[in-house]
Amino acid sequence: MPGFELFGDAERKELNDVLDNGVLMRYGFDGMRNGHWKAKELETELQDTFQSKHVQLVSSGTAAVSVALASAGIGAGDEVIMPTFTFVASFEAIMMLGAIPVLVDIDATLGLNPEAVEKAITPKTKAIMVVQMCGSMAHMDTLLAISDKHNVLLIEDACQAIGGTYKGKPLGSIGDLGCFSFDFVKTITCGEGGAVITNNSEYYSNADHYSDHGHDHIGNDRGAETHPFIGYNFRISELHAAVGLAQVRRLPDFLNIQKQNFNILRAALAEIPEVEFRTVPEGGEESCAFLNFFLPDLETATKVSQAFKDNGVDACWNYYNNSWHYIRAWNHLKDLKSLYPISKDRKEGLANLKTKDFSQSDYYIGRNISCLIKLSWTEEQVKERAEKMTQLIKANL
Ligand SMILES: Cc1ncc(COP(=O)(O)O)c(C=O)c1O
Repeated sequence: MPGFELFGDAERKELNDVLDNGVLMRYGFDGMRNGHWKAKELETELQDTFQSKHVQLVSSGTAAVSVALASAGIGAGDEVIMPTFTFVASFEAIMMLGAIPVLVDIDATLGLNPEAVEKAITPKTKAIMVVQMCGSMAHMDTLLAISDKHNVLLIEDACQAIGGTYKGKPLGSIGDLGCFSFDFVKTITCGEGGAVITNNSEYYSNADHYSDHGHDHIGNDRGAETHPFIGYNFRISELHAAVGLAQVRRLPDFLNIQKQNFNILRAALAEIPEVEFRTVPEGGEESCAFLNFFLPDLETATKVSQAFKDNGVDACWNYYNNSWHYIRAWNHLKDLKSLYPISKDRKEGLANLKTKDFSQSDYYIGRNISCLIKLSWTEEQVKERAEKMTQLIKANL
């Protein structure tokens, strides 16, 4: 990760196919397009990759989460349980629909803590949104059992975990709906793009229509199509899909490189008794997009993180005070800063965010360091990096 590190002829060829006929839109213009349907082709490839019956491409991972929720009928006043450690897109996508994000603690997997999830369920809960952060997964069997028991949906945000698996199934394909991002920094990237996957035909049909102004996509005259319900524009363009198509075909290679680099770094850090790796549930295989480890306490993690920065070990983060990924610095959410009025039920639902006890999440995120695994490193560079990281950790314990 990220796939742009290895852009090359394959991406150029797919892009040129689109530019040669000039049809940048994924729908219509049949006569002009010379048989090129990049978005459709990519959807078909992704059905295989994700072992999923249906794939709907959209314009971003954020759109994917919002479209997934909308397709399952989640909206005003519904509660969606989500983790404290994720990307801001999780609560944005929920808020966009008028639903209420209910934030709960994570555990040593860095994903939703099942006990905290169960405690947060109320009669208004419609979905549990599990976010497979940094290439790995939460305790999926337990979360599936909870979602079954309470008859709520399990939505899987696998935007950061393409290529990871649980008991042989691709992450993203385990819940009722899965979401992916192909933004600029993801393992496969097309600049901006995303996908919703599901085995449920009704959710798929809803996602297909909703992401294109409610168009039913019947026939080949857009102007004559009907709109079974209100939709919006979350379409992907053919240019983006073309790059995505080249990248997805290279995914197995990318994953192999990630794994090799990850294993070298992990083996080096495993020699330090104070380093503890995140929990990966039994039957889980990380995508190896990130190496995550815990240090004894927040103070040590802060020192090590600073030492990494000062010594050129880039792309490693401690998220405790980070405003992308962790509740502590999401002041705009806690203060309900919105350009337009927010409904009373959402204000009430979010009112406790400033005071709710997230000490369990603090315990894990405070001690965690999350290191991106790049695709472009040579083996020698990874070994040098492993050596440097080991020295810096030991020097700061
Ligand atoms: C976990 C998670 N969900 C959703 C998104 C949103 O994806 P996008 O940037 O494509 O909107 C991201 C992006 O980083 C993410 O990490």
